[in-house]
Amino acid sequence: MTAHDSWAKIYDRAYKESFGSFYKEFTELTLKVIQEETAQGLKVIDFGAGTGRLTLPLSELGFEMTAVDASLEMCKELQSKDIKKKINIHNEFIENFISNERYDFALCVFSVLTYITDEQTLNKALSNLKECLHSGGLILMDIPLPGAFKGLTYKSETLHRDVIVDKQNDVFNYRESIDILNENNWINYSDEFKIRCWQPDLVLNKMKQLGFNIQKDLSERFIGTGALYFLFKLN
Ligand SMILES: C[S@@+](CC[C@H](N)C(=O)[O-])C[C@H]1O[C@@H](n2cnc3c(N)ncnc32)[C@H](O)[C@@H]1O
Repeated sequence: MTAHDSWAKIYDRAYKESFGSFYKEFTELTLKVIQEETAQGLKVIDFGAGTGRLTLPLSELGFEMTAVDASLEMCKELQSKDIKKKINIHNEFIENFISNERYDFALCVFSVLTYITDEQTLNKALSNLKECLHSGGLILMDIPLPGAFKGLTYKSETLHRDVIVDKQNDVFNYRESIDILNENNWINYSDEFKIRCWQPDLVLNKMKQLGFNIQKDLSERFIGTGALYFLFKLN
């Protein structure tokens, strides 16, 4: 089982409720930045797309969307929400994703890189991101900062969410336990996986070596997300 598989069905509800208005504002900001940086109708690939927080609205806005996600269950959720069947969905790890298609714009945001916990896999994943882009193509990527690697407790009348993050050097053990009220029944979901806090300089150097330049450092605009945000351009 891959991270998120066990609770993909309730992922949207758990995130929307426990992150409150921040989630909506952060999503709106991300969509605004993407629209500022790319022209409508272009081909966009969303790496670690999840249930389509960004893929779905971008598809509605007229972008030609491709989504890649390691979790089969997250892909199924996205598929069920793609009523018009316009999105190309690939259940694959970024580090294994090979495509003959070339895209104008790529996304790899909301902690996706942290799920990769060894450097060899990170190298493969970043190299695959590059291979998917046209020369001159752009990628929006976040690099979560150490402060983002912390637990969470959220309790409402319909949702209890406990996230415990244990530090083991650079790699953290992430444990999620969710109790959610569904038609008078409380249902429990749990998940456990590793995440890694990557040093920003290490990721930035790897991107540079691959031929990416920082087009814009957007970290100030995304302040409060606990991550640095960069728009890279492929030479
Ligand atoms: C926190 S969610 C973010 C989803 C989406 N990017 C967003 O902005 O809402 C992280 C997603 O990354 C996916 N993921 C993690 N590691 C991955 C990998 N190596 N390849 C592809 N997807 C991955 C997970 O399955 C999960 O759906």
